[in-house]
Amino acid sequence: MTKGWSKSDWRAKPRVQMPDYPDQAALQTVETQLAKYPPLVFAGEARKLKKQLALAAEGKAFLLQGGDCAESFAEFSADNIRDTFRVMLQMAVVLTYGAKVPVIKVGRMAGQFAKPRSAATEVIDGVEYPSYRGDIINGFDATVESRRPDANRMLQAYTQAAASLNLLRAFSTGGFADIHRVHSWTLGFAEHDKAERYRELSNRISDALDFMNAAGVNGDTSNALATVDFYTSHEALLLEYEEALCRIDSITGLPVAGSGHMIWIGDRTRQPDGAHVEFCRGVQNPIGLKCGPTTSADDLKVLMAKLNPTNEAGRLTLIARFGAGKVGENLPRLIKAVREEGANVVWSCDPMHGNTIKAASGYKTRPFDSVLREVREFFGIHKAEGTIPGGVHFEMTGQDVTECTGGLRAVSDEDLSDRYHTACDPRLNASQSLELAFLVAEELSALRSSGQRIAL
Ligand code: PEP
Ligand code: CO
Repeated sequence: MTKGWSKSDWRAKPRVQMPDYPDQAALQTVETQLAKYPPLVFAGEARKLKKQLALAAEGKAFLLQGGDCAESFAEFSADNIRDTFRVMLQMAVVLTYGAKVPVIKVGRMAGQFAKPRSAATEVIDGVEYPSYRGDIINGFDATVESRRPDANRMLQAYTQAAASLNLLRAFSTGGFADIHRVHSWTLGFAEHDKAERYRELSNRISDALDFMNAAGVNGDTSNALATVDFYTSHEALLLEYEEALCRIDSITGLPVAGSGHMIWIGDRTRQPDGAHVEFCRGVQNPIGLKCGPTTSADDLKVLMAKLNPTNEAGRLTLIARFGAGKVGENLPRLIKAVREEGANVVWSCDPMHGNTIKAASGYKTRPFDSVLREVREFFGIHKAEGTIPGGVHFEMTGQDVTECTGGLRAVSDEDLSDRYHTACDPRLNASQSLELAFLVAEELSALRSSGQRIAL
């Protein structure tokens, strides 16, 4: 990709949000070890995802990216992985039906461990501790010992990511994701509106499948219906981990991040001359770039040139995260910058990170109404500008948590303490995720019928 780039060049650049490991010898041992391990993904898969994202940039596919804010060692279980995977399948069914285009499924999974934080320390019960930075870096427990960065955590994260990916691959191709099982993906959210809507949709899909079967049209297409492509992604924050898993693709001879199919650069680490941009510009994976209210048009232009110098389709996804009420003042100026550069990008909407508030109870939460509103604003601006909304990016879980307020089974401020399990930011629960998918599907289907450039 980039001549003269090496995977360790980021070390000479200013770095933010990364830990200072007190035990440098242990860090080196871990890096050497990880560098010998197999990569978690194959470069050909990352290239395939890039091709699919190129279609999303043209409105011929739609990106659904979602999962935990922070994966944790404690919450690691087959049930959790299955439930998140299942909700993503359900959301994808709803979106495919509305958009009538393939939905590209990308989990914030199997590597989403490291977290940027707004403050270096936090006060818990009157005592100041270093902030929790994700299980790959330090522990969640409020003790000085647990909060100390420990490089050995990278090995546990790698192992967990490998096991998660193994299960996700098994679910994707082993029968679980077969569209004929569309009914069986209904979770415990039986008796509310959206579940009913989902059941109706499943019935229609089953009818269509029965019809195709009766007409003898299932032969060649049966594999396409029985399996899905499911990709993994995470924020490339901990660069020692990323560098250690960087490999040379034997087919193209180019460097590839072996830690996940897609990696992204966060809102706090997107300095054009910083370490994170330096690492990401050299690997051939699809790259996400979070764009917030403080992203200037000039910075965006520099970042697009650095991250996608050849303007390759599908290489760069801009993930807009402005907050409800702020899309109108920010998205058009960035769309203008993209236009001025003639840049090829996928526009995705993250309606989570601009809408985090502190509830009266002290819990960090996100009002579901604000999430919905930001999605609507995102679609509205793209319609007005004649540009293409190519995807969505959510923090969600298949568990029945109470972390975001609102939704059809209204979660109130007082309910937050009932099942608040996130290791970092509040996630949509299964029912809220499905509700959101229906909203996005409606927006996409309105776009189709208005003849906007969503091509079929
Ligand atoms: C995240 O995606 O969890 C995150 C921290 O996002 P952002 O960088 O947009 O704040
Ligand atoms: Co988050």
